[in-house]
Amino acid sequence: MRFLSFVPLSLALMSANLYAAQTVMDDQSELKTQAVAAGHTAYFQPPAEHELPDNAFGKLVRQGHSLFVDTRRQAPAYVGNGLNCSNCHLDQGRLPNSAPLWGAYPMYPAYRKKNDKVNTFAERLQGCFQFSMNGKPPLADGPEITALSAYAYWLATKAPLGVESAGRGYPEVAQPAKGYDLAQGAQVYKAQCAICHGDTGQGQKVGQDYVMPPLWGKDSYNWGAGMHRINTAASFIQYNMPLGKGKSLNDQQAWDVAAFINSHERPQDPRLIDGSIEKTRVKFHANDGVNLYGQTVDGVLIGQGIR
Ligand code: HEC
Ligand code: HEC
Repeated sequence: MRFLSFVPLSLALMSANLYAAQTVMDDQSELKTQAVAAGHTAYFQPPAEHELPDNAFGKLVRQGHSLFVDTRRQAPAYVGNGLNCSNCHLDQGRLPNSAPLWGAYPMYPAYRKKNDKVNTFAERLQGCFQFSMNGKPPLADGPEITALSAYAYWLATKAPLGVESAGRGYPEVAQPAKGYDLAQGAQVYKAQCAICHGDTGQGQKVGQDYVMPPLWGKDSYNWGAGMHRINTAASFIQYNMPLGKGKSLNDQQAWDVAAFINSHERPQDPRLIDGSIEKTRVKFHANDGVNLYGQTVDGVLIGQGIR
C-alpha cells in the first residue's frame, strides 16, 4: 500500500494561524443531479492506482489521496470534527452516486445563478473543510488544496470536460407526498443504523480514530454542511446506506431517517450572524433545501450548536 506512505504536511500547522477563521464559500451549494435510470451500469471508470507514474506527479496524487481518506490525521489544523472526506465520498472518492471526485472535477469553475457567482474547484474543497469537516479552509493555493485537486484531476482522467457524468453527486430522492416523520425515522435508525453509528449517533472509535463516523454531536458535520439538508442526506442514505446495502430503503424510510439524524444537535453554523439563530436561518437556511435549522421541534429550538 504505497498510498499510506504520505508524511503529514508540516506547512499545514504553520499556515493555519496566518489568517483568522473566515468563511470562504457562502454555502455548500446543492447539486441538482438527475435520478439515475434503474439498472444504469455505464459509469465512468477512474484509473487504477497501479497506473500512477512513479514521479513527482504520482507523488502529489498520492498525497491528495492520503489527505482524502485520512483527513483528520493528515490535516489536523483544518479539521474540527472526527470525519474524513471519504466518509461521505465513498470508496476513496470513486463511487458513483456518492459525489465521486471524477464527477466533480470536470464541472468547475461553476456558475451559480443564485448569487451570480463563479465557484472554483478549490473553493468547493474549502467549503467541505469549513462545513462538512467543521474546520478552517486551507489556502486555495496551499499544499493541501493542491494535492487534493491533483488527486481529483487524476481520477477524472479522460472524463469529458463540462459534461455532467452519470453518477455525479447524490441522485435526487423526491420528498414523499406525506412529508417525513421523525418518529418513524427513529425506528429506522434503531433497526438499521445504530449497530454501526451508535445509539446516540456518536459513531465508534478505536483509540483516537473513528472506525464508524458520528452522525450528530460535536464530532460530526456542522449546521452549514450540505448533509444537514434532509433532502441531500436522504439521497446519500438511499444510495449508500446501510453500508453495503444501498438502495434497500424506500424513499419514505430514507427521508424519515435523514430527518431524524438532522433533528439532532451538531456544531454551530460558522456563518452565524450576530449570535442569532433566527437571523442565520433567514439568511442561509430559508432557501437551502429542506432543513430543520432554527425551527422548533417538540418545544426545542434546533440549531443551538454543540461544542
Ligand atoms: C459529512 C459529509 C461530507 C464530508 C465529510 C465531505 N463532504 Fe464533500 N460534499 C458533501 C456534500 C453533501 C456535497 C454536496 C452534494 C450535493 O449537494 O448534492 C459535497 C460536495 C463536494 C464536492 C463537489 C462535488 C461535485 O460534484 O461538484 C467536492 C469536490 C467535495 N465535496 C470534496 C470534499 C473534500 C475534499 C472533503 C474533505 C476535505 C469532503 N468533501 C468532505 C458531503 C461531505
Ligand atoms: C455496517 C455498518 C453501517 C451501517 C449499518 C450504517 N452505516 Fe452509515 N456509514 C458507515 C461507514 C463505515 C461510513 C463511512 C464510510 C467510509 O468511510 O467508507 C458511513 C457513513 C455514513 C454517513 C456519512 C458520514 C457521517 O458521519 O455523516 C451517513 C450520513 C450515514 N452513514 C448514515 C447512515 C444511516 C442513516 C444508516 C441506516 C439507514 C447507516 N448509515 C447504516 C457504516 C454503516
